Amino acid sequence: MNNFTFHVSTDIRFGKDRLNELPEVLNTYGKHVLLVYGGGSIKKNGLYDTIMQQLTENKNQVTELSGVDPNPRIETVAAGAQLCREHQIDVILAVGGGSVIDCSKVIAGAARSDQEPWDLVLNRSYQGSAIPLVTILTLAATGSEMNRGAVISNLETKQKLGVHGPNFLPKVSFLDPTTTFSVSRYQTAAGSADIISHLIENYFSTTADTDVQDGVAEGLMKAVIKNLPIALDTPDDYDARANLMWASTLALNGLTGSGKGGAWSCHPMEHELSAFYDITHGIGLAILTPRWMLHVLNEDTAPKLARFAREVFGVQESVPEIAARMGIQKLYDFFISCGIPMTLPEVGIENEQHFEEMAQQAVAFSSISKNAYVPLSVEDVIAIYQDASTPSSYM
Ligand code: NZQ
Ligand code: ZN
Repeated sequence: MNNFTFHVSTDIRFGKDRLNELPEVLNTYGKHVLLVYGGGSIKKNGLYDTIMQQLTENKNQVTELSGVDPNPRIETVAAGAQLCREHQIDVILAVGGGSVIDCSKVIAGAARSDQEPWDLVLNRSYQGSAIPLVTILTLAATGSEMNRGAVISNLETKQKLGVHGPNFLPKVSFLDPTTTFSVSRYQTAAGSADIISHLIENYFSTTADTDVQDGVAEGLMKAVIKNLPIALDTPDDYDARANLMWASTLALNGLTGSGKGGAWSCHPMEHELSAFYDITHGIGLAILTPRWMLHVLNEDTAPKLARFAREVFGVQESVPEIAARMGIQKLYDFFISCGIPMTLPEVGIENEQHFEEMAQQAVAFSSISKNAYVPLSVEDVIAIYQDASTPSSYM
């Protein structure tokens, strides 16, 4: 296991009725609040009214930034940073999924930086100060509620890039599972596929003998596989939503990735699909992950893929390569059973027109060709995109 520092100081307020604590939390930072949210789901489900009532009673001065898109845009970041300066914002309150939280993180930094917002993203690392961020998570998926990363899109340059900063880490995150009852079937499934992907990306690493991290990852994957079908059937099942929400947070707060080396594989490939075609992140990952697994299956990787099959899906097969294929098939079938479209044409990517350019960017903006679990060249990435263009079978 590699050396690591694990210091994730976000104060998590998990459970029903915890939002009563919001005024006290915001008062720690000041009265001027930038309230950031997306396309209106929080108005439909009543969360906006609940929050506004509290902020009014608490005598906060509220500036709103609404309409953050899924795959948040750099223009929204710039607009938010401008609002922070104009209104001398003390604290940013992000209410939404990963897109709203990510957008708020980069706003928080850009408002206190001389850099142009897109230059800040292009640097991939932001070490400067940031306005304190409090989040109310409404979708179990990205883990942004308890990590230092953000992913921002520039539709003009067709780029979607991750940027990290120590001060992007939310100070406090409210995780009330009831706020996710209104998430659609599609986004619930997509979010869960994202959680599974984060665990898989960390699980398949070049660092050996990480039993703690791998055991935790297996447990979290099993929790998602058990609870997602329940949440799809019964959207207001509190415990199913609670398990998905906590899995989201733990899957990408460093718990399963610390102590491991190497680069992620499916995320850089998916970010290109989102950058070029604006598709839902978790859906892109669900489509790519089984194809990637098959592509990297060889004598060296078969034992770990077989462990995944046995521990996560209960596959009983002693020959590693066969067990591995059975596990890949189970993952594929699980995603199908959750209603996820499992080919690129089903999400509007109907031809190979941009495969080469996307593959080149995936390699250029990440280190998948250098230190991924199995290093991937531009040709490998194109082959994976091609394989994802038709339905697959692994047995
Ligand atoms: O915009 P609104 O109206 O709120 O609707 C959203 C949006 O349409 C809706 N939604 C969210 N909560 C809801 C709800 N609908 C009904 N009820 C609720 N309670 O869901 C849609 C998708 O929201 P979005 O925030 O885009 O989803 P997600 O949380 O999956 O975030 C995806 C973004 O996060 C990035 C992705 O690349 C993508 O841009 N990621 C961020 C990471 C991080 N910061 O660590 C890591 C991830 O790997 C990922 O890359
Ligand atoms: Zn992700």
